[in-house]
Amino acid sequence: GEGQLWGARFASGPSPELARLSKSTHFDWQLAQYDLAGSRAHAVALAAAGYLDDSELETMQDALRSLSAAVADGSFMALESEEDVHAALERGLIERAGADVGGKLRAGRSRNDQIATLVRMYLLDHAGAISAMVVDLIDAIVAQAEKHDTAIMPGRTHLQHAQPVLLAHHLLAHAWPLVRTLERFRDWKARASTSPYGSGALAGSTLGLDPALVARELGLSRPTENSIDATASRDVVAEFAFITAQLGIDISRLSEEIILWNTREFDFVQLDDAYSTGSSIMPQKKNPDIAELARGKSGRLIGNLTGLLATLKALPLAYNRDLQEDKEPVFDSVETLEVLLPAFTGMIATLRFNTERMAELAPQGFSLATDVADWLVRQHVPFREAHEISGSLVRFCEENSLELHEPTDADYATISPHLTGDVRAVLSVEGSVSSRAGVGGTAPVRVAEQRAELTERVRVL
Ligand code: ARG
Repeated sequence: GEGQLWGARFASGPSPELARLSKSTHFDWQLAQYDLAGSRAHAVALAAAGYLDDSELETMQDALRSLSAAVADGSFMALESEEDVHAALERGLIERAGADVGGKLRAGRSRNDQIATLVRMYLLDHAGAISAMVVDLIDAIVAQAEKHDTAIMPGRTHLQHAQPVLLAHHLLAHAWPLVRTLERFRDWKARASTSPYGSGALAGSTLGLDPALVARELGLSRPTENSIDATASRDVVAEFAFITAQLGIDISRLSEEIILWNTREFDFVQLDDAYSTGSSIMPQKKNPDIAELARGKSGRLIGNLTGLLATLKALPLAYNRDLQEDKEPVFDSVETLEVLLPAFTGMIATLRFNTERMAELAPQGFSLATDVADWLVRQHVPFREAHEISGSLVRFCEENSLELHEPTDADYATISPHLTGDVRAVLSVEGSVSSRAGVGGTAPVRVAEQRAELTERVRVL
């Protein structure tokens, strides 16, 4: 019947229960414009192979263009009774081109090769949009690093004070994973931009259509190599879900730090009013909801990936209807990130750092003890012994409520004859940070180079 793509071999129509279960228009409608682009390309291939004459091709293309405009302005929509986007759009085509011409479009293609192509087109577009948003976020982080290029903060391991680091170094440590996300999207694109069109239901097409022509028309790099693989695999979709889940995880780690830094106990940052929220009962509250939502939504992005992988596991070749479950998870990941990223970037761009507080805390917790050990090594004391001397100094200072530079020369000498007053020269956070000048280290000169390299890596992507 009208708006249905199969039925002749059935004595009855589908039961209402089946129709309700089977229906996908409420989500696959998002693919309507890609479906129409695929149809326009397929019409060109049909004409090239002699299945449409010039006037039929023109009628078909006019009808597809008019349908595309009607979809865009909302005047054409799927009917309640229609199973999927493909069925609804065929009705729209036949309404415009008539059954004689409109009915020719389905030759040599199946919903199985169609849907596998459309989901790639959708993901490629949104990978571009999400990548642009990630670039904005990287820019915001780099701008903060540039603004705070001399500020020093306590670097932590195990959440304990470890060694002082530049705030800029720490901020850039959050930017590098985002650069890798951009690079992952770029690498993924090379695999995703192949065209399953022409694979048919699973075994290929008998009509001699040119799949390279369709791929070209759709802006994809080439046809897929195996029609079974093309219609049955979704690793390209799963890989996209992984990239977005990893992006969510990286943002959640920065979020967690912002939430901690924003507590009274840390007092490292202040959020801009436009990027924080209040409480309905506690008038004084100013909450880091953007960071919390980002942290929470990373769970959702991981769920979308694992749900999809579970659907794919042990699925026999070729197409199975289970594969219809590939779309909602990635649609959700796309919508989640496209709403989250601009808000998150705004929060980062407007964040104010309490650099005085960070500087004050940086040397606390004996975070320069490694510098004492390294100083001893430069006096040719074996590191094993240097570590023990520095540890004894920490214990002495802790017992006497002193900082590492405060014992007298005589106290130093009692701890070890290798320890002299000269060690005080390395006992400043600035000295400590500047001395870590190895590749990738926190010395200001290295961090400035690193920032330039990061900016360049993003620019050439
Ligand atoms: N809606 C299906 C999907 O998303 C495509 C249609 C193929 N249906 C079928 N019965 N072979 O995967």
